[in-house]
Parts: sequence; structure tokens; C-alpha cells
Amino acid sequence: MNRPSLVLLQAGIVATAAIAVSIGIARLVFAVAAPQLPDTEPSTPAASDADCLNCHKSKDLKVKLTSGEVLSLYVDSDLIASSVHAGRLYCTDCHRDVTGVPHPTLQASTTRSYTASQYDVCKRCHFSNYTKTMDSVHYQRLAEGDQSAPVCSDCHSAHNTTPPDVPRAVISQTCAKCHAAIYDVYAKSIHGAALLTQGNPDVPVCTNCHQVHNIQNPLTSEFRLQSVQVCSTCHSNKEMMDKYGTSTAVTSTYLRSFHGMSVFLRTERSEGNVPEPVCTDCHGVHDIQAATSPNSPVMKANLTGTCAKCHTGATPNFPDSWLGHYEPSIEHAPAVLAIRWFYRLLIPFIIGGLLVHILLDLWRVITNR
Ligand code: HEC
Ligand code: HEC
Ligand code: HEC
Ligand code: HEC
Ligand code: HEC
Ligand code: HEC
Ligand code: HEC
Ligand code: HEC
Ligand code: HEC
Repeated sequence: MNRPSLVLLQAGIVATAAIAVSIGIARLVFAVAAPQLPDTEPSTPAASDADCLNCHKSKDLKVKLTSGEVLSLYVDSDLIASSVHAGRLYCTDCHRDVTGVPHPTLQASTTRSYTASQYDVCKRCHFSNYTKTMDSVHYQRLAEGDQSAPVCSDCHSAHNTTPPDVPRAVISQTCAKCHAAIYDVYAKSIHGAALLTQGNPDVPVCTNCHQVHNIQNPLTSEFRLQSVQVCSTCHSNKEMMDKYGTSTAVTSTYLRSFHGMSVFLRTERSEGNVPEPVCTDCHGVHDIQAATSPNSPVMKANLTGTCAKCHTGATPNFPDSWLGHYEPSIEHAPAVLAIRWFYRLLIPFIIGGLLVHILLDLWRVITNR
């Protein structure tokens, strides 16, 4: 095994001497057997943070890895002090294998593989989140060897962990680090713009639609079917939608349409392949706009093109074959409203009449006896 060559690029002889002295001290400190840490709670450390920082506060402390990359070993104590873990965790609560100097041999050959090798650090205390990540598309990619997929410390930072949802926009910005193109589109959508310009607490951030730690592949038919429910959690919430004067009939009217019915049946039967449109086929995904916006795919002038994505050759009056999310009313589709009422009155009248007829008949039979 190639021990990575250690490059202590000290600023001057003074600093080198200081480290040499601290190695001596640290050897003494660490010589005392480190107590076994309990499994979930931070405890008395094998060495105090100050011991570690003695060496690691030096901006010049670095190590050259076998790939040739240099891993900086500088730890900013100000960041450590502002982390949510400050005052709760010692360095050795996370770096449990570091119990003395020299430390265990560094195995990683690149800075990225070093970071990835620390994946299990958070497991002990945040077990449920750790377990969820095992079931995510990110972890899957990581396991397949895609080292650009995120580990805990990419999203939360290792030494400067901050509350991950304060303010709420931080959540989407966390994903933006790697999904910049999607974030830019989202930022201009009705959802993203309301979040970023007004701090709106109701509109969805990335994790409302994708979850956080157990993000699934969104391009499966399972996700496609579920997406209707995702939109509906908010868009069927009357209290929320009344604030924006937005109709909550969108889900019920969709589910009653020929498209929605087929999709609903597929959901019931857990069928794959969903050719009928879900909400996002008409409204867009990360670029959803107000229905009246000139850029909206459901705005009157753009609607034919939207239907034509599937109904090839749709003519300008083709969209009228669907009522939209409107309940039939005097203004919208009075004919449909009239037919609906006709049946509402006719059916009880016929069935009622039938029942009366049978009862009278029975009565006759009984009295005639
Ligand atoms: C005497 C100086 C010194 C002290 C004290 C020291 N370190 Fe280090 N540390 C180093 C050097 C040098 C390296 C470079 C690589 C190596 O030797 O493993 C390093 C590397 C590391 C690394 C990265 C690589 C690895 O081996 O995992 C971590 C993490 C680390 N130290 C944590 C700590 C912690 C936590 C403490 C306190 C318990 C501590 N160090 C105390 C000098 C020190
Ligand atoms: C909440 C857990 C946690 C605590 C507390 C913690 N570390 Fe780390 N540390 C990590 C993780 C995870 C990594 C690897 C992630 C990365 O490369 O950014 C890391 C990386 C390092 C490295 C390698 C260089 C680097 O920044 O990648 C050094 C050195 C280090 N830590 C020292 C310390 C010292 C010293 C302390 C205490 C003052 C400390 N750590 C406290 C989790 C922690
Ligand atoms: C030794 C136990 C321990 C380890 C290891 C640990 N944490 Fe924590 N973590 C805590 C404690 C305790 C809190 C504070 C919980 C609270 O405030 O309710 C916390 C809080 C957090 C929070 C803030 C939660 C919130 O709701 O604001 C995040 C994010 C977090 N940890 C991420 C990490 C990451 C990432 C790692 C690994 C690099 C890690 N933790 C390692 C114990 C730990
Ligand atoms: C892809 C980015 C990402 C990764 C990877 C990630 N997190 Fe998170 N995490 C977040 C975001 C964003 C939030 C806030 C989500 C919210 O409130 O909807 C969060 C919330 C948290 C919280 C506080 C809320 C809670 O559920 O308790 C903890 C603790 C936490 N994460 C720990 C971890 C640990 C441990 C890992 C690794 C096993 C990890 N996270 C991996 C992005 C990530
Ligand atoms: C450190 C970089 C990084 C961060 C941060 C990150 N991702 Fe990813 N993400 C990736 C990589 C790499 C992939 C796999 C390659 C790809 O499909 O782009 C991926 C894949 C995905 C996929 C699956 C895409 C597909 O086609 O299968 C989704 C969904 C996703 N990420 C959502 C999120 C969300 C939501 C967040 C924030 C909570 C987030 N990501 C944060 C790097 C990141
Ligand atoms: C309103 C719900 C919603 C929000 C908010 C949302 N997404 Fe998505 N996302 C989806 C849906 C639905 C799909 C599947 C799209 C499809 O079928 O083409 C998807 C697809 C993806 C994909 C994979 C496909 C692609 O286009 O590469 C990634 C990666 C992704 N989203 C990341 C993000 C990130 C990052 C954010 C936040 C900036 C975010 N999403 C916000 C619903 C959402
Ligand atoms: C977390 C809640 C939430 C989720 C999930 C959500 N939305 Fe929204 N949506 C809102 C809120 C709140 C508004 C109003 C924003 C405003 O007017 O500033 C809105 C606005 C809209 C609008 C514009 C309405 C108008 O006035 O014309 C459309 C269209 C829309 N959403 C479609 C969707 C679709 C499609 C999905 C699923 C892919 C979805 N939304 C998921 C909360 C949500
Ligand atoms: C994502 C693709 C898709 C989009 C977009 C779409 N449809 Fe459909 N539509 C379908 C499928 C698939 C069927 C079922 C066809 C079948 O089973 O014969 C269907 C059925 C219909 C039917 C029932 C009669 C028939 O042709 O079977 C009407 C009417 C209809 N759609 C109107 C519309 C209108 C109006 C729009 C635009 C506002 C639209 N559709 C957008 C895929 C789509
Ligand atoms: C076949 C295309 C199509 C599908 C599928 C579709 N919509 Fe719409 N949506 C429209 C059209 C067209 C409008 C504008 C006219 C109207 O309100 O009917 C609209 C308007 C809206 C509005 C604005 C309502 C208002 O009060 O201004 C919201 C919110 C909305 N849709 C959400 C959804 C949700 C959520 C779903 C899935 C459950 C969905 N849509 C499915 C075409 C569609």
C-alpha cells in the first residue's frame, strides 16, 4: 500500500518547530488509552478539540495524495464554533478512528474519495437519515462509481453544519450546487419565484416533490403516477389555495376527465407506461407558470400545441373537447350543465316512478286478496 507522501508545507521554520513540539505533546496525550465511545451520544473525548487544532489550525498543513492532489488539513475553528454541532460534539465524536499521532494510514487516493470514505461518520447519531440515503438515486449512483453524487457532507458540510431549512430557500439552493440548470429554470417558475422573491412558505422547494434523503429516480412511470398526488397535496388544500385565489377543483376535475380516469385506473393496478397526461405534461415541471401567463403551456394561445404533443394534428378548436378544470356552469359549458341537470332530475324521476309503480302494484295484489 502506498502511504501518501506527507507534505508539511510550513510557512517557516517556527511553525515546523511548533508542530514538532505538539507531536511530542500529542503523543503523550494520546498515550492514555482512549475510552470507548458509546453508540449514540457524544462523550468525553480521547483528545480535546484544542489538541487537534494545535496542528490543524495551521493553514499550511496539507497532505499529498497518491493521485498528486493535495488535501488541505486546515480546520477553521470559527466554522466549527458556528456549526449546529458546536458545544455538542468533539472532533473525535466524528473522527473516531483518530486516536493518536500518527493517525491511521490515510487510504484515499483522491480528495473526492477521501470525502466519500467519510460517509459513515454521521451514521451513528443520524441513523434514520443515513438509512434513507441508502435507498436514494444519489447513493445508487455513488455505488455505481459516480463520485460526483452527494454524500452527507456535500449538502450539510462536515465542519460548518447549519440548520438545513432556515431560511426555507436554502433547501433548493443546496441542490443548486450540482443541479444548477434545473435550479435556474425553477427560480423563474411561479413556485420558485414566489419562494425566492417573497420567501413564500407554501410553494414547493425541490424536496417537496423529490423528498430529501431518499430521492428516487423521477423518470420512472411509478414517479409519474405519484406526481399527481404530489401536486394535489397542495392544490387540493383549500385553506392554502384560497390565499392565492387558485381553484382547488383542479384535482377533482382532472380525475374526472378521460385522462385522469385512465391514470387513476393505472395507479390502482400499478401499471407501468402512462401515455395519458399527468399534471406536468400540460403545465411543465420545473418551469410551471401561472395559467394566464403568456409563457404558460396551458394559456389559450399555447394550448393547442400542448395537446398536439400527443394528439398529433390537433386543430385550434381541439382543446374545447375538454372542459379544462372548470366545473360546468352558466359561463363555462352551459350545455353540459343543462345535460347534467337533466339527468340529475330525470334519473330520480324515472326510478322514483318505477318504485311507485311497483308499490301500487303490490298494494293492488294484497288488497285484491
Ligand atoms: C501533531 C499534529 C497533529 C495532531 C495533534 C492531530 N493531527 Fe490530524 N493530522 C496531522 C497530520 C500530519 C495529518 C496528515 C496525514 C496523516 O498523518 O494521517 C493529519 C490528518 C488528519 C485527518 C485526515 C486524514 C485522516 O487520517 O483521516 C483527520 C480527519 C485528522 N487529522 C483529525 C485529527 C483529529 C480529530 C485530531 C485530534 C484528536 C488530530 N487530527 C490531531 C497532524 C495532527
Ligand atoms: C460532525 C462530524 C465532524 C466533526 C465534529 C469534525 N469533523 Fe472533521 N470531518 C468530518 C467529515 C465528514 C470529513 C470529511 C468531509 C470532507 O472531506 O469535507 C472531515 C474532514 C476532516 C479533515 C480532512 C480535511 C478536510 O477538511 O476535508 C480534517 C483534518 C478534520 N476533519 C479535522 C477535524 C477536527 C480537528 C475537528 C474538531 C475541531 C473535526 N474535524 C470535527 C466530520 C467531522
Ligand atoms: C455524535 C453524534 C453526532 C454525529 C456523529 C453527527 N451529529 Fe449531527 N447532530 C447531533 C446532535 C446532538 C444534533 C443537534 C440535534 C438537535 O438540535 O436537535 C445534531 C444536529 C444536526 C443537524 C441539524 C438538524 C436540524 O434540524 O437543524 C444536521 C443537519 C446534522 N446534525 C448533520 C450531521 C452530519 C452531516 C453529520 C456527519 C458529517 C453529523 N450530523 C454527525 C449529533 C451528531
Ligand atoms: C442531497 C443533499 C443531502 C444529502 C446527501 C443529505 N442531506 Fe440531510 N438534509 C438535506 C436537506 C435539504 C435537508 C432539509 C430538508 C427539509 O427540511 O425539507 C436535510 C435535513 C437533514 C437533517 C435535519 C432534519 C431531519 O430529518 O432530522 C439531518 C439531521 C440531516 N439532514 C442529516 C443528514 C445525514 C446524516 C446525511 C447522510 C447520511 C444527509 N443528511 C444527507 C439535504 C441532504
Ligand atoms: C454534490 C452534488 C449534488 C447535490 C448537492 C445534489 N445532487 Fe442530485 N444528483 C447528483 C448526481 C451526480 C446525480 C446523478 C447524475 C444525474 O442524473 O445528474 C444526481 C441525480 C439526481 C436525481 C435523479 C436524476 C435522474 O435522472 O435520475 C434527482 C431527482 C436529484 N439528483 C435531485 C436532487 C435534489 C432534490 C437535491 C437537493 C436536495 C440534489 N439532487 C442535490 C449530484 C448532486
Ligand atoms: C413541483 C414539483 C417539483 C419541484 C419543486 C422540483 N421538481 Fe424536479 N422533477 C419533478 C418531476 C415531476 C420530475 C419528472 C419530470 C419528467 O417526467 O420529465 C422531475 C425531474 C427532476 C430531475 C431529473 C430529470 C431532469 O430533468 O434532469 C432532476 C435532476 C430534478 N427534478 C431536480 C430538481 C431540483 C434540483 C429541484 C429544485 C431546484 C427540483 N427538481 C424541483 C418535480 C419537481
Ligand atoms: C408545496 C405545495 C405545492 C406543491 C407540491 C405544488 N404547488 Fe403549485 N402552487 C403552490 C402555491 C402556493 C401556488 C401559488 C403561488 C403564487 O400564486 O404565488 C402554486 C401555483 C401553481 C400554479 C399557478 C396557478 C395560477 O394561479 O395560475 C400552477 C399551474 C401550479 N402551481 C401547478 C402545480 C403542479 C403541476 C404541481 C405538481 C407538479 C404543483 N403545482 C405542486 C403550491 C404547490
Ligand atoms: C401526454 C399526452 C397527452 C396530452 C398532452 C393530451 N392528451 Fe388527450 N389523450 C391522451 C391519451 C393517451 C388519450 C387516450 C387515447 C385513447 O385511449 O384512445 C387521450 C384521450 C383524449 C380524449 C378522449 C378521446 C380520444 O381521443 O380518445 C380527448 C377528448 C382528449 N384526450 C383531449 C385532450 C386535450 C383537449 C388536450 C390538451 C388540453 C390533451 N388531450 C392533451 C394523451 C394526451
Ligand atoms: C390536459 C391538460 C391539463 C392537465 C392534465 C392538467 N391541467 Fe391544470 N390547467 C390546464 C388548463 C388548460 C388550465 C387553464 C384553464 C383552466 O383553468 O381550465 C389549467 C389551469 C390550472 C391551474 C390554475 C387554476 C386557477 O384557479 O387559475 C392550476 C392550479 C392547475 N391547472 C393545476 C393542475 C394540477 C394540479 C393538475 C393535475 C392534478 C393539472 N392541472 C392537470 C390544463 C391541464
